[in-house]
Amino acid sequence: MQSTPQKWLITGANGNLGRRLTACLMAAGHRVVAVVRSESARESLMGLDPRGPSDLFQVQIANYDDAAQLADVADDCDRVIHLVGILKASSRASYTDAHERSCERLLQALVRTQVRHVTYVSILGSTPTSGNPCLASKGRAEKILADGQIPCCTLRVPMVVGEGDYASAMLQKRAHNPRNFAFRASSLEQPIYAGDVVSAICAAASQKLEGGFDLAGPESLTRAALYERAATVVGRETKVISLPVGLGLALAFVLEKTVTEPPITRAMLEVLDHDDDVDTTAIAERLEITPLTTVDEMLRLILPG
Ligand SMILES: NC(=O)c1ccc[n+]([C@@H]2O[C@H](COP(=O)([O-])OP(=O)(O)OC[C@H]3O[C@@H](n4cnc5c(N)ncnc54)[C@H](OP(=O)(O)O)[C@@H]3O)[C@@H](O)[C@H]2O)c1
Repeated sequence: MQSTPQKWLITGANGNLGRRLTACLMAAGHRVVAVVRSESARESLMGLDPRGPSDLFQVQIANYDDAAQLADVADDCDRVIHLVGILKASSRASYTDAHERSCERLLQALVRTQVRHVTYVSILGSTPTSGNPCLASKGRAEKILADGQIPCCTLRVPMVVGEGDYASAMLQKRAHNPRNFAFRASSLEQPIYAGDVVSAICAAASQKLEGGFDLAGPESLTRAALYERAATVVGRETKVISLPVGLGLALAFVLEKTVTEPPITRAMLEVLDHDDDVDTTAIAERLEITPLTTVDEMLRLILPG
């Protein structure tokens, strides 16, 4: 990535995409203010720059519900990448707080700063009118940013796959299982490589792109095919057995009613069940991230042989 060095504020910087983006920006000589919400998250980021905190790299703890704190940490930044988000709501974290409220507070903060552009990462399928609570919340958050005074670009992405992340751990496990059970194995996945998402974020911010865009990988395939391809990459075979998604939703319903912190929820399962099949040629070209990493390439990158 080559461009004039800028000062970037990254929220949710300790997450999968945040860590990757932070490392990429620092390698390109940019100044980064990484925002996290706990001391343990701050410590987890320290190793990203062996020289430790400096004028080039700061890790700031802030409460995403406190506009004054956010304004302080964003003070002399040029652009913001907002990566706060959740797939599963819990008793401690609601979709509203993580998505809409964090966007509202961010906007309140940024009008007091010199920040001139925000890039937000949302989920493919998000829209305020969605029947799914997660996708609807993300859709409302997108609208809050779009209606704000700071130019904003939202990239709506599907399953992101990168080295060492949750999706790659899942695919690694699936690849080695001789048999895999999957809810609605015919549902469509369009995974995108994490490195491509980071490049897209950097390009959207550098171009000060405005609007909402769907950005996905170059191939849409069934969940069953994805697991089979992962198995092939590690030199194995797997048989995928499809289960009705209604069964998963019923199980999630029971868990929601009986367990304080259910491991799966109906909202989360519905997001994962979303059929992802969009043509992203135009936006990929506009962001100059073509050719996108193919499914087989990304599987080879994330799965040890
Ligand atoms: N990875 C994907 O497959 C994918 C797909 C579509 C969209 N996205 C979106 O891309 C963004 C970044 O994804 P990621 O994979 O890097 O996510 P991630 O690894 O789960 O990191 C999420 C970040 O958000 C913070 N966060 C979570 N709940 C919060 C809450 N209630 N209030 C404030 N902060 C909260 C986390 O902080 P703590 O560590 O302190 O909890 C963490 O810094 C998210 O908005 C996500 O929705 C990701």
